[in-house]
Formats: sequence, structure tokens, C-alpha cells
Amino acid sequence: MNFPNEVTVVEVGPRDGLQNESKHVETADKIRMIEALGKTGLKRIEVTSFVSPKWIPQLADGLDVINGLHLPDDVRMLALVPNLKGLESAQKGHLKEVAFFLSATESHSKKNINKSVDEAVTTLKEVATVAKSAGLKLRCYVSVVFVCPYEGKVAPAQVAKVVSQLLAIGVDEISLGDTIGAATPLDVKNVVSLLSKEVGVNNLALHFHDTRGTALANVLAGLDLGVSTFDSSIGGLGGCPYAPGAAGNLATEDLVYMLNGMGIKTGIDLEKLVDAGELVQNLLGKKLPGRYLQAALAARSKV
Ligand code: HMG
Ligand code: MG
Repeated sequence: MNFPNEVTVVEVGPRDGLQNESKHVETADKIRMIEALGKTGLKRIEVTSFVSPKWIPQLADGLDVINGLHLPDDVRMLALVPNLKGLESAQKGHLKEVAFFLSATESHSKKNINKSVDEAVTTLKEVATVAKSAGLKLRCYVSVVFVCPYEGKVAPAQVAKVVSQLLAIGVDEISLGDTIGAATPLDVKNVVSLLSKEVGVNNLALHFHDTRGTALANVLAGLDLGVSTFDSSIGGLGGCPYAPGAAGNLATEDLVYMLNGMGIKTGIDLEKLVDAGELVQNLLGKKLPGRYLQAALAARSKV
């Protein structure tokens, strides 16, 4: 096994997590959550999205969240944008990085953004032109890379076709999404080994949801192929409202615990992650699914 020495964790809980919560979370509480995450050593945090508030009302206060945040200088915020309108809002927040998103299948694309994959690529070109001229870093998620809730198993060649268009547009990083948490390590191997020839493994990130308990095993498969950027969310919060059956993302604490144990550096303080996870549980008034979080909180309550 040939693992990287260091891994970058991209925390997506404030966006991927909160977009899926039915409980209303006050702007001030989102700020407390993100600031707690900013104290853990995480260097990249996806803080909100600038999508239609009719589609995702939970994140309609994105600009207020960003304007209220005080984060260490070395923490890079990013926000999800679906089009130029979203990019304009992100620019008002003086972000240095934005993330576009599209799907590997037509059905998920239609349900999630009401566009075909080709239409989404056209929109990405517009977004990329403006983002690049403004000096912004541009990440792009590809959703339903392994399994689509509407079309089933996705052929790696179909993903490669979408990815080659993203490369031609010049995105800086491609995050491959197991949107409904259905991939297994063999799926990861098949897709990543095909794509990394074209993309270069340093420009790939993996974004696992943990619906079926395979997320950490999938991280291991990714590490073995040299991937060194992984998305996760505090406490395992999350889901995609337009992908039935999508549960939370891989929990950040579970990921960091495993990486620590393997001697792979993240720069993240696990105890501070637990503090952040506990805060999020209190804000949402419910237990989060993260396993390390629950074990650590149980141990703390016995001391
Ligand atoms: P649309 O309804 O097809 O069409 O939305 P539209 O472009 O004509 O816009 C309709 C209305 O929304 C208009 O307002 C626009 O101005 C407004 P109205 O005239 O009706 O008052 N609008 C906006 N408002 C604010 N910000 C914007 C914006 N754009 C339009 N940026 C659209 C198309 C793409 C906007 C919509 O479908 C949408 O917002 N979809 C987002 C869905 C979403 O956020 N899904 C979850 C994120 S993806 C995910 O979770 C997967 C990921 O985690 C990776 C993985 O796990 O796979 C990233
Ligand atoms: Mg996701």
C-alpha cells in the first residue's frame, strides 16, 4: 500500500449538512458552528451555497453567514454556486474559492439543477470565465459518480466523458461524489484509476456519503491510489435533498481518527473536532451519526 503522507480534509458540513436539515438554524448558530470548525486546524471549509432559495431555503442566508464569520487567515472558505447569479453572490462575500456542481447522469442533473448535463457544462463555462478572471479557485463536484438513485450503476466511461469536459474548461479540482453512499472500494478503484490518468491524482478529491457504511473503506481505496483530498462533514451531517436515500457525509472525526492512526498528517485536532461536533448536536437538538464523536462524548461523560 502506497499512502500519501498528508491529506487535506475539506469540511462540507455547513453546506452539505445544513442544506438537508429540516430544523431552522439561525444565522448566528451557523456562524458559531463554522467558527468552531475553524479552530480545529481544518484549512478548507465549505460554508454555504448560493443556489436558489426556493430549492434550498436552509442556506438562503449565505451572505450574512460569510459576512459574520471570523476565521483564522489560513482557513479558506468556499461556497457552492450553480450559475453566474450564485457566483456574483459569492463574490460579494469576497471568497477565494467557489465550487460548481453537475451530475454524471441526466436524471440526477434534471432533478438537482433542472438542467441537462450539457446545459450544466455550458453554465460552468460561463462561471469559469468569470471566476478565472477574478482570480478565484474553481472546484467542481461531479455527483452520482458511482450509482445514481434514478439510473442505477454508472459506467466509469460516462464519468470520464463528463470529467474530460471539466478539464477542458480548466477547473482546478474535481471532487467525485458518491451522492447516495452506494460505492464500494472496487468501484472507487475502477473510477479513480481510469480518471487519474487524465486528471492527475493531485487534482482529484473524493466525496463520500456514508449511507451504507462503506465510506471509510472507500477512503482507503482512494488513498491507495494516491488521492490526498477528501470531503467530510462534522458528525456525519448531510445528504442531498434531490437524491432520495442519501444520508450524511462521511464524518470528519471518523476520517481524521483513521488517518491519524495510519500516521497520515491532517493538521486537525481531533478533540477540537469533538467540541465542534458537540456544539452542532446542541444547535440541532439531535445526536449526529458520527461514530468517533459518539464514542468520544460517551467517554467524556464518564470522566
Ligand atoms: P430553475 O428553477 O430551474 O431556474 O433553477 P432559474 O434559473 O430560472 O431560476 C429560478 C429562480 O431562482 C429565479 O427567481 C432565479 O432568479 C432564482 P424568480 O425569478 O423565480 O424569483 N435563482 C437564484 N437565486 C439565488 N441564487 C442563485 C439563483 N439561480 C437562480 N444562484 C437552479 C435552477 C440551478 C438555480 C436550481 O435548480 C437550484 O438552485 N438547484 C440547487 C439544488 C441544490 O443546491 N442541490 C444540493 C447541492 S448539490 C449536492 O449536494 C451534491 C454534492 O454534495 C456532491 C455529491 O454529494 O454528489 C455537491
Ligand atoms: Mg454531497
